[in-house]
Amino acid sequence: MQTALSSPKKSLRAVLVGSAVLVLAASLGTGGAAGSVSRAAPGCNRGSLNIERHRYGTAPSGATVHLYKLTNSHCMRVKIITYGGIIQSLSVPNRNGRTRNVALGFSNLDDYVEQNDPYFGAIIGRYANRIANGEFTLDGVTYELPVNNDPNTLHGGPKGFHTKVWDAQPAQDANSVGLELSYTSRDGEQGFPGRLETEVRYTLTENNALRMHYLATTSQPTVVNLTNHSYFNLGGEGTGTIYDHRLKINANHYTPVDSTLIPTGRIARVAGTPFDFRTPKAVGARIRNSHPQLLTGLGYDHNYVLNGGQGLKPAARLTDTKSGRVLHILTTEPGIQFYSGNFLDGTLIGTSGHTYRQSDGLALETQHYPDSPNQRNFPSTVLRPNETYDTTTVFKFSTTG
Ligand code: GAL
Repeated sequence: MQTALSSPKKSLRAVLVGSAVLVLAASLGTGGAAGSVSRAAPGCNRGSLNIERHRYGTAPSGATVHLYKLTNSHCMRVKIITYGGIIQSLSVPNRNGRTRNVALGFSNLDDYVEQNDPYFGAIIGRYANRIANGEFTLDGVTYELPVNNDPNTLHGGPKGFHTKVWDAQPAQDANSVGLELSYTSRDGEQGFPGRLETEVRYTLTENNALRMHYLATTSQPTVVNLTNHSYFNLGGEGTGTIYDHRLKINANHYTPVDSTLIPTGRIARVAGTPFDFRTPKAVGARIRNSHPQLLTGLGYDHNYVLNGGQGLKPAARLTDTKSGRVLHILTTEPGIQFYSGNFLDGTLIGTSGHTYRQSDGLALETQHYPDSPNQRNFPSTVLRPNETYDTTTVFKFSTTG
C-alpha cells in the first residue's frame, strides 16, 4: 500500500522547449516493449514514445490550461487536458492500422467549460455517480452536499473534479510515457469533509494500454470514489451509435435503481435479464426490451458488481467487429457503471463536428457502487487520515480479425 502521495519523479526526463511546447522524446532502441499489438499494421505510422505540451486556453479561474499529447510507437495517441484531467481524444489503430479517435469529446476548452454535462473524458471526484438526497452521515456527523441532479448529488457536485485545473508533471521511462496530475481539494469543498490530496497518474504503455492510477489521502475521515468518464465509440467518435458493439462484462450481479437512479440496495442476478453480458452481446440487441430497469434508466445506466475479488482483474471487453478495435478494461475496483449514453440528445457538437445523439458512445466507469455512503451492504468508500486511497484502471486496446 502507498503511504505518501509525493513520490519521487525518478522517471521524469523533461525538457522545456521555448514556452509553448514541451517535448519528451524517448531514446529507445528499435525494439521497444513487446505486446500483443507490437507489430505495426499497414497504414500505421509508427512514431516513438513522446509527450508534447501545448497551451489549450484559459479556465474561468484564470489558470492556464494545457493539452498534453502522449504518443507511443504502436500508433496509439492520447490527448489529456489539465482542465478536469479530461481525456480529450484517444486514437487507436483498427485492424489495418488506421488510427481514429474513439473517445467522445469537444474540440475546444469553452465547450468543456460551458457544456460538458455528459462529463466527456473527465476525472470524476470526489464521488463518482450519485449520493442520495445530497447527504450522508459519517461517524455520527451528517454532511450536506450541493444537489445538482435533483434530488441527488451527481459526480462530486457542480464544481467537482471535472471542473478543476490540475497540476501536471510529465513522466517517462523506456516502455511508457505518462502524465501525473495532482489536485488538492480543500476541507469542505462541495460539502465533503477533509482536505483531500489527490493524484491521478495516466500512463501510456508500448502495448497500447492507458493506465490510470488514482491516489488520495485525507486530513479527516471522508468518502472517496474516483473514476474517469470517457465515452467510447470504437468505430470512431461521431460515426453513429454503438448498438452493434459487442460487450462482455464480468459480473453475475448488478445493482437495480429507483426512479432517481439511486440503487435500491438490492444485489440482483443478471441471469435471464437483458443485463446479462457474461458472454459478449451486442449493446443494442436488448436495449429496447421492456425490462422495468431499462425503462427507468432510459437504457443501460447501471452499476455492475464485478466478479473476481481484489487486485487488477478483467472487468469488461468491448469489440467493434467492423473496425476490429477491441477495448479491454481491467480494474481494482469492485464495480463498473455501464452507461449507454442515454442522455445524449443531439444538442452537442463533438470533436469532429458531428452532433451526438443517444448511444453514439458508451461509458464504462470503474468505481465503488453509487450511493455507498448511504448503503450499509455496499463495499465501504470511507477514507481515514492514516489510509491511502489507491486504485488502478487500465484501458487496453488490441485488434481482432
Ligand atoms: C453517468 C450516470 C448517468 C449520467 C451520466 C452523465 O455516469 O450514470 O446517469 O448522469 O453519467 O450524463
